[in-house]
Amino acid sequence: MAPNTITKKTLLLAILIFTLCSQFEAILFQDTKLIFYLQSKAREPNATTAVITGIPGKLWNFFSFGTLFAEDDVMTETMDPRSAQLGRAQGFYCISSLDGSIANVILELVLTDKKYNGSTIQIQGASVQLDDVREVAVTGGTGKFRYGRGYATLETVFLDGKTGANVIRLNVTVNHSLL
Ligand SMILES: *[C@@H]1O[C@H](CO)[C@@H](O)[C@H](O)[C@H]1NC(C)=O
Ligand SMILES: *[C@@H]1O[C@H](CO)[C@@H](O)[C@H](O)[C@H]1NC(C)=O
Repeated sequence: MAPNTITKKTLLLAILIFTLCSQFEAILFQDTKLIFYLQSKAREPNATTAVITGIPGKLWNFFSFGTLFAEDDVMTETMDPRSAQLGRAQGFYCISSLDGSIANVILELVLTDKKYNGSTIQIQGASVQLDDVREVAVTGGTGKFRYGRGYATLETVFLDGKTGANVIRLNVTVNHSLL
């Protein structure tokens, strides 16, 4: 066999392996779209949101710079609080703009339903609080959502002006590893 034939064969083999690998990598990731309804209650009993701290001498609330809230909401399948529970959204809101209009949101979606039980999705971003649709980033995940990245939108679909109770629809698109 002439040496240049071997070189050609080696080159072809290398190209084939490279092509297979890049396709393989593409099919090892997939997009998953999920919808959750976050049931938030601001008043006792069983409040799911609480002020942790704020700027001394200033008001501590959702439109006051520097106020930090902890959140632990049940996530349900539909807007109805009695519908199936899919997990919990746990984390922080920090009012991050001086004019109070923006909240920096850090949430861990702790999933407990069916095949996603034990998996989590991490969410972070700036929420322009009075916008109808607020987009934040999916920055990671565990379990079924390893190497997760993507985006999510927050929409307030119910708000009780008296008690502050609200329901937020969270639409999540996450690209993640299948392994
Ligand atoms: C508050 O939580 C307790 C314990 O989970 C439960 O028994 C009670 O019914 C809840 N109260 C309301 C008003 O949701
Ligand atoms: C989720 O997993 C935990 C721990 O493995 C288990 O105790 C629980 O029953 C599971 N929940 C559902 C809804 O399958």
